[in-house]
Amino acid sequence: MAQKIVAGNWKMNLSLQEGLTLISETTNMLKDEKRNDAKVIFATPFVYLHAVRNLVEQTSGTYLAAQNCSEHTKGAYTGEISASMLASVGAGYVIIGHSERRLYYNETHQQLAEKINRALEENLQVIFCCGETIEIREKNEHIEFVQKQLAGSLFHLSNEQMKNIVVAYEPVWAIGTGKTASTEQAQEMHAEIRKYLSEKFGTETAQNTSILYGGSVNAGNAKELFACPDVDGGLVGGASLKSRDFTEIIKAYNP
Ligand code: 13P
Repeated sequence: MAQKIVAGNWKMNLSLQEGLTLISETTNMLKDEKRNDAKVIFATPFVYLHAVRNLVEQTSGTYLAAQNCSEHTKGAYTGEISASMLASVGAGYVIIGHSERRLYYNETHQQLAEKINRALEENLQVIFCCGETIEIREKNEHIEFVQKQLAGSLFHLSNEQMKNIVVAYEPVWAIGTGKTASTEQAQEMHAEIRKYLSEKFGTETAQNTSILYGGSVNAGNAKELFACPDVDGGLVGGASLKSRDFTEIIKAYNP
């Protein structure tokens, strides 16, 4: 069985003070709940990781993620952040291959594969994002497109390494648009992703890989999305910036 995960990707939002408040409020609200077994991840900007670490570590079941890392180990790469730096400030996870990075920073399959290698070398868990644009979906090429993303950046890994990979399917047309994929669209793609992973890595690895949905997840639609058999949780953008909304999304897993 794949681990259930609800991750909040803050992107380039919130001040440090706002971030600290958001984490405290969220973890306080969760404390009063009969907790489900879903892991909660806060993917904060790099510069906050060290400062929020204690707060996150105080609450069981909550983890810290970065939103990117360098494909290089170390050296003269001004402004870049290495995977080992992330590990040294307490990040357990790193998001790699978000569509915004692919689009605005031209990150390629090969570059993402290298970033994943660096992250795994530092024992970080990777949240690997994939997803098609609206043009590709309208041409009915979305499944092949996502398969290429998976093959291009993950298929060099061993089964052992795949244990540290979470896949996040985030259709680009659903990100920040308020236009969520329907449960049929989400389930179809998630099942295809799992099938494709199982062809390469075998059924057991595919069944154990968490596949998250991302794209306009909110407190109102989380429950039905998370109820899809191949959806193992969510990668949440906008709604993760408000403690009440994010908590409601996490609670979508409660019995
Ligand atoms: P929204 O939830 O704001 O659509 O963003 C999704 C996302 O990109 C998470 O990584």
